[in-house]
Amino acid sequence: MESFITPCGKFYNEDCISGAKKHIESNSVDLIVTDPPYGINGDKLHLHYNRNEDFVVEGYVEIPESECGEFSLKWIKEAERILKPGGSIYIVSGYTNLYHILHALRQTKLEEINHIIWKYNFGVYTSKKYVSSHYHILYYEKPGGNRTFNLESRFGVKEKAPNSGSLNYQDREDVWIINREYKPGRVKNKNELPVLLLVKMIQYSSDEGDLVCDMFLGGFSTAKVAIGLNRRAIGFEISPLMFSTKIEELRDLKPGYLLSALRIPEIEKKANQGKKWIDSDKKTLIRRFNQLISSGKTKKASIDILEKELGRGRWSIEKMLKKLGVQSNGKRGRPKKKK
Ligand SMILES: C[S@@+](CC[C@H](N)C(=O)[O-])C[C@H]1O[C@@H](n2cnc3c(N)ncnc32)[C@H](O)[C@@H]1O
Repeated sequence: MESFITPCGKFYNEDCISGAKKHIESNSVDLIVTDPPYGINGDKLHLHYNRNEDFVVEGYVEIPESECGEFSLKWIKEAERILKPGGSIYIVSGYTNLYHILHALRQTKLEEINHIIWKYNFGVYTSKKYVSSHYHILYYEKPGGNRTFNLESRFGVKEKAPNSGSLNYQDREDVWIINREYKPGRVKNKNELPVLLLVKMIQYSSDEGDLVCDMFLGGFSTAKVAIGLNRRAIGFEISPLMFSTKIEELRDLKPGYLLSALRIPEIEKKANQGKKWIDSDKKTLIRRFNQLISSGKTKKASIDILEKELGRGRWSIEKMLKKLGVQSNGKRGRPKKKK
């Protein structure tokens, strides 16, 4: 089988570089989440991670270490082409070939947003050194558009953790502790990404109906989660065996099957949230902020009060004060120029 096309997905048993050129238009993809081959000659990944080799699908295609630099540049250039301006890309990478990926990214116009560390369980056991138990996730955007970042898609900004910290803040820290899934007795790819990790990236960085691409489908985990969250999926897998084995699992997937299991964030809707700031709103903001600061209140306490008075969110107030050139002491500097 060379391809598998459904209303919510298009999957090709092809090399992702030539395949993307053939099947994906420029500036058409909202989000790319991908996990390229590691370029580690003779790696033993399946031996320690999946424990029992009988359940590992044969046919994983590795890239020789010597070709890793050129290969990374070629596929990342294709990823840059197909992303919409404002589209995001997450690349999962081990340490060994991280420098090839970073070097390739620097030869594109893609811009770094975060360098995330994913800490996982089942690290390779060692006795004479520390146990390696993390991956890198490079989160970049294609400039020139409005990047989707769904701030409250998982936790409202006011939701408190048991330690009284902010759940939203904690979820957005750039070290993620997410366990790999141990699936005894089930057929899998050598390194399937956990559902929870994929859900997080896809929730923050795309909306329902968006197009999510994985250049290296492997076990099709990105595609399955994207469909489960009601996104459209597209991608490539070069191995015929991997493709034909895994495609079977996609046939019966119902779009949106993961939605009912998602946590519902508590979001406090402000009366004027999202409303355009007109001139009189801006004047009121400057006047009241000045009064509060002059009365001895801190910037934070003043904004707390203004949130209630103006019926707007903290970020919106802070952004407007900055735009109007209002400083922390209430005085006006030069207004911030539009970029
Ligand atoms: C690290 S795995 C992806 C794992 C996947 N994220 C998952 O959760 O199952 C990389 C995959 O890329 C495939 N691959 C290698 N070279 C490729 C290429 N040029 N085009 C498309 N797929 C390729 C490999 O066969 C392998 O299945």
